[in-house]
Amino acid sequence: MELKDKFGRKISYLRLAVTDRCNLRCQYCMPSQGIDIVDRKELLSYKEMYRITRILSELGVNKVRLTGGEPFVRKDFVNFLESLSFNDKLNEINITTNGALISNHIDKLEELKINAINLSIDSLKREKFAQITRRDVFENVYDTFEKLEKSNLNLKLNVVVQSGFNTDEIIDFVELSKDKNIAVRFIEEMPFNGKGQRIMEDEWNFNKILNHIKENYPKIEQVSSSKSSTSVNFKIPNYKGNFGIIPAFTRTICNDCNRIRITATGMFKNCLFDGGVFNIRDFIRNGASDEELKELFIKTVHNKPENGFIAEENRGNDVSESMSTIGG
Ligand code: 5AD
Ligand code: SF4
Repeated sequence: MELKDKFGRKISYLRLAVTDRCNLRCQYCMPSQGIDIVDRKELLSYKEMYRITRILSELGVNKVRLTGGEPFVRKDFVNFLESLSFNDKLNEINITTNGALISNHIDKLEELKINAINLSIDSLKREKFAQITRRDVFENVYDTFEKLEKSNLNLKLNVVVQSGFNTDEIIDFVELSKDKNIAVRFIEEMPFNGKGQRIMEDEWNFNKILNHIKENYPKIEQVSSSKSSTSVNFKIPNYKGNFGIIPAFTRTICNDCNRIRITATGMFKNCLFDGGVFNIRDFIRNGASDEELKELFIKTVHNKPENGFIAEENRGNDVSESMSTIGG
């Protein structure tokens, strides 16, 4: 038994949001105040998340990314990681984090053989960072960055390209890959800020970001990436690391999609842009057996929409949910 959709895409990658809470308030992700945080009992418990992951791993999922909100905000998250690491069907466990709370956990992450950490860092300047995240924690995050860079964990930096805020730092981020073996990922900003607004002076889409970098480096080389990678990757000759651009909003990568998502409240999503197809939490709490869950997963994945535009069309309402609920 495996998870395959009607376009023949095999699903092997789960993105699981462990919480909707976050210690930061990034302007493109959340309003400054009045965010709807769900009641604790509406969140999947670790036991429920473990079970869902186990069942999916029996259906061919071999890679899991833990996201949030900020995953390290949830109590006992590191213990959960340890439990997950005992699942021998998982080849890769990865984490997306804002890094503000994790510098004490890095040894443990190495010990657990976590594969890769994606660190969200949208500016290298303390004040700009505080403006974007509405919290003055740049120094903690940069400290985490340096520790991660020295660790044996694979490190990616997530940079959401925000018109009028950090586009002047794109080249500084590329320069970080000169002496450091890191992967910088520029992400197109999406209108997911909990309000459905996307205010932009001009749109920094994939091509614009790439052209901007090319103007500064005439000799960039495209490097290969895995088939289902969401980024198109490049390298400056002789630089240790590389950089990539993720067409998160222009969605040119859907053909090779291998992923599904589960939100912190147990909503199953075939696509970042769909509205959630069913609530696994309720199904589990009503006594579903492993077999029933498997059937449901197989049936639902079969109907995965062809791409993010069709998914968005199908949902019928605006894409306004915050990434902190969907899982960044
Ligand atoms: N647009 C693009 N990326 C986003 N993220 C969160 N909200 C958005 C958005 N509106 C991504 C960022 C961040 C991760 C947690 O989620 O990459 O690093
Ligand atoms: Fe938190 Fe990430 Fe949203 Fe920023 S983008 S507020 S770090 S969940």
